[in-house]
Amino acid sequence: MPFSSTPSSARRSHPITVHWRQEARTIRLDVPEGEYILRSFEQQGEPLPFSCRNGCCTACAVRVIAGEIDQRESLGLSREVRRKGYGLLCVARALGPLEVETQDEDEVYELQFGRHFGRGKVRPGLPLDEE
Ligand code: FES
Repeated sequence: MPFSSTPSSARRSHPITVHWRQEARTIRLDVPEGEYILRSFEQQGEPLPFSCRNGCCTACAVRVIAGEIDQRESLGLSREVRRKGYGLLCVARALGPLEVETQDEDEVYELQFGRHFGRGKVRPGLPLDEE
């Protein structure tokens, strides 16, 4: 039986545009379908902000301007924040054309946790448990 795997060079690629607001740069690269966007940008010489690389810390969070983002592995984002149009590039795979912009410092962290700190409303468990 012949081996029928598609070589990575023959896979479809999708244009991914990142508006890196803090650097005042727009980067547009083609990312092979199914590959992690952050890693593909790094491999193409365009490293973007990150920390954990596991979908937990939100350092790589972006706002989606156009297109669809794969959210399956975004453990660090609550459903509410995902519904608001945020995604994590370290665990986002290219599905199709996508345009995103980087978040303001701690923007996603504040959206998820800010309401729970400094207001006397801290309760056991993570806010993510409330979903
Ligand atoms: S680098 Fe931590 S969530 Fe992406």
